[in-house]
Formats: sequence, structure tokens, C-alpha cells
Amino acid sequence: MDLLVLGSGIAGLSAAIHAAQRGWTVGVVTKGELATSATRYAQGGVAAALGAPDSTELHETDTLIAGAGLCDTDAVRVLVTEGPRRVRELMALGAKFDERDGELQLAIEGGHSLPRVVHAGGDATGAEIERALADAAHALPNIDVRERCFSVDLIVEAGRCVGIHALDSTGRATEIRARNTVLATGGAGQLFSVTTNPAVSTGDGIGMALRAGVAVADVEFMQFHPTALDNPSMPRPLLSEALRGDGAVLRDEQGVQFMLGEHPLADLAPRDIVARAIARRLVERRLPHLWLDATAIADFPTRFPTIWASAQAVGLDPRTDLLPVAPAAHYLSGGIATDLDGASTLPGLWSCGEAACSGVHGANRLASNSLLDGLVFAPRIIEAIAEGKDAPEPSGVLRGIDPGVLDVPELPVQPEGAMGLADLQQIMTAGAGVLRDVKSLETVARAVAIDVGAHDVGSFEVRNLLTVARALAAAALAREESRGTHTRLDFPETLPEFSGRFFGCAGPPVFVPLPAEVPA
Ligand code: SIN
Repeated sequence: MDLLVLGSGIAGLSAAIHAAQRGWTVGVVTKGELATSATRYAQGGVAAALGAPDSTELHETDTLIAGAGLCDTDAVRVLVTEGPRRVRELMALGAKFDERDGELQLAIEGGHSLPRVVHAGGDATGAEIERALADAAHALPNIDVRERCFSVDLIVEAGRCVGIHALDSTGRATEIRARNTVLATGGAGQLFSVTTNPAVSTGDGIGMALRAGVAVADVEFMQFHPTALDNPSMPRPLLSEALRGDGAVLRDEQGVQFMLGEHPLADLAPRDIVARAIARRLVERRLPHLWLDATAIADFPTRFPTIWASAQAVGLDPRTDLLPVAPAAHYLSGGIATDLDGASTLPGLWSCGEAACSGVHGANRLASNSLLDGLVFAPRIIEAIAEGKDAPEPSGVLRGIDPGVLDVPELPVQPEGAMGLADLQQIMTAGAGVLRDVKSLETVARAVAIDVGAHDVGSFEVRNLLTVARALAAAALAREESRGTHTRLDFPETLPEFSGRFFGCAGPPVFVPLPAEVPA
């Protein structure tokens, strides 16, 4: 086949549809069903500068500020300039975003300087996008969808990715070969006990890439969403930042609106700042949660029907009750290092969406930029392959990277250890959560330095999560500063000497400083 796409969220399906529209033969492999990706859970929406008073320059500035100095400026420019066209394309494909008086309704979320987030069904944006993309994919006869098919490892021959080893829907080992392979397998929220991510978010693509010696970057930057409903259900019900955009505020246990003293944007500060402010109070005051006060939102049931249903399910009425909230693992800002066309360090292997590190998120993703990331970078892969590109170039995150620099000995692991998912999640939550230090991270690094025997989907998922956990812990230990979503209690300052990325593959992370910006 011409193109094999692993993953069926916004990034994977966008890649598949663009390739199929060119007449290519495309396979989409998903371990669940076509529409069961993390995309479906997205509430807030898609950020894009769709017209005045907004501009691509403003969107770019907000993205760079949120990213805490680690965004790739070229990648961000690509994101904000190509974004509006891709959103319109998605609408032409059938996605219906909320309108008022014939105009798109725009919401504001943390870190945005003005409303620019389109949404659907109030707070069911991901579900509508997934529906539209799945319908479009089903209508294209040259897309072969393989559901309940688990990708195990990449097949690499003569220095090139030529497909995957997989377990088919009956659990039988099989090979799927393709001229080019796209990893769009999403993130790794299941590394943590408390996450907004569905059970499928087990870092499969990043784990496969690491085992094949493909470079990853920025994996220490796991973003925690500040306002997950503190309730035992998993994934944790998300209380979208759009609530704060519509007037909700955070309060501590004494009713104080504490974000007023934390940041000029108060409750709409970038997400890392809000999550850290909450986490500090929870630790210092030994509290299970703080409170989101959404009582000022009069039209709650119609504006936020998904959140309304989650609250009602646990006996809360957001119009009168304060909602208990605590941070939850939400989005991995790093991932498989790619150039501006989604090419990884392994020829024939491409990546987009949350699995990838395209450089647009830096140390902390701006709210609602992730759906846009998938929409923009997936078609760039297809266009690059169509133009004959076959290997990465030194652009985007791969700017200034000499592939030899990543050629380091593998991190030592104990063979044949034993670890279950819940144990791993507890270790990561205790040691590599919102607040970290050398002791907690060293404990994690020691605990995850094992290889588990894998024989079925569940154990392959734990193996993938362990692979990602090792890379995350190693980079988090090496980054002896606090920046964006990476808060080191023992190194509270952001330091200029860490203005660069940690790249990992088999061995210890390698630091590459950001290139100096050429003055305009
Ligand atoms: C939210 O709705 O708060 C989440 C949006 C995002 O993660 O981009």
C-alpha cells in the first residue's frame, strides 16, 4: 500500500483523507474502533485566527508566550498561517461548528488574548470533528480501515521504515507493509493515575519509535489540565477552560479567587500556571481538590451540555454548586521529533498530532492548539511525500540536529521485570507529576528501568508506557530548571542555559540548544 496510518484521531484521519483524495491506497490501523480516539474527548475547540480583530500575528504571539521559550518559531508560523484554511476545509468536509446569527461563535480560553476558539455542540467539539472525519474516511473506497488491530513494532529494513508488526483483531501476529508510515497514535496520559485521556492513550507510537531508535523530543513536558472534576471516574471528566472563558473562576477552600494574585490574566492565565497554582495549594494545604465556581454561567446546560451531564451524573448542579477540581494528565507536548513536514529521523516514518513533536507547543501547549496541530501538519506530510520527499531535513524541531548526535548507547534496563498498569501509574503520579524534584524523579527512573515480557495487547501497552516513562524521567531529571509544564521544586527558576531541547532515543537524553533567532 502507499500509506499506512496508525491512529484514527484528527491527525491520522486527516492524513488518510488527504492521501486517499490523491488516489493513493491507504490503510488506517486503529486498536479500537475508528471513532474511539482522544480527539473525541476534546471539549474546548479549535483555535484559529479566522478574521479581524484577530490576526495570525496575535495567535503566534499567544502560542509563543504559552510555550515558555521552547516553541519552534517556524513551526508556530506554519500552524497559525495554514490553520484558518484547514479549519474551513474541515467545515467543507462536513464538520458543523456553533454559530450565532450566521457567524461562527468564538470562545476564549487560557493564554489567548481574545476569543478565537471555534466549538461544536457547545462543548462536544472533538466528537463532531471525529464524526465528520470518520464519515469522510468511510466514503473513500481506497481507505482500508483495520479496527481492533494493535501495532506492535516498526519494521525497519535497510535504514527505512517499511511497515509494522501487528496483532490483528483475532490476536494473530501479522505484518503490514507500506511505502510510507504515519504515526498518529496520540499521547500517553495513561502514564498517570489521574488523566482526562481515554484508556487507549498508552504512548504506543512513541514507544515503537523509541525502540526503533527514532528521536523524540520535549517528552518531559506532560501538560496537566488544571480543572478535571475530582471524581473517581476514569477518564476524569474535563471541565473545559472555556468555562473560565465564559466567566467561571477558581476558588480555594476559603472561597478566595486565588488566581487574581498569581497572574495578570488571573483565571485565564496559560494552563501550566493555573495547574501549578492549584497543585501547590493542594500539597501545602493537604487538600484533595479546590473549587471551580461556574455559577455565573446562566446558560450552562445549553452552552456546555457535556459538562452539564457529567456534573449531573454525580449530583452536582453547576448553576448553584461549586465543582471540585484537581489537575489531571492531559496532553504530551513532546513526542516524535519531526521537521516542518512531519518527517521523523527514520526515512519512511512520519508523525503528526499528539504523538509528534512538531515544535508548536514548546514547554506548554496553548489551549485548543492541539486539534489545529493535527489539522495542519497531517496534510503537510502528504504534500511532502507527493513532492518526492523521503527523509527529514534540518527544519522545525530537527533544525540544527546532526543525526550522529543521537547515536548513544541504550539506557540500561533490567530484563524481564514485572509491572502492571496501576503500579506504573502510581509511580509516575507520585514522582513525575505537576511538581517534581531530583529525589522523586530518580525514584521513577529506577522503577521504570525494567523490560516487561509482552504477549497480549494489555502487556504491549504497559511496555510502551514504560518505554515512554523512561524517556520522560530521563529528560525531566536532566532539565534542572522549571519551565512551562515542567516544575522542579529543587530548581524553581527558568534558566537561559536550558533554552533548548532534550532529544532521546535509545540512550540518555541529548541537549541541543535552540538556534539563535536571526534578527528581522
Ligand atoms: C479544554 O477544553 O479545556 C481543553 C482544551 C485543550 O486541551 O486544548
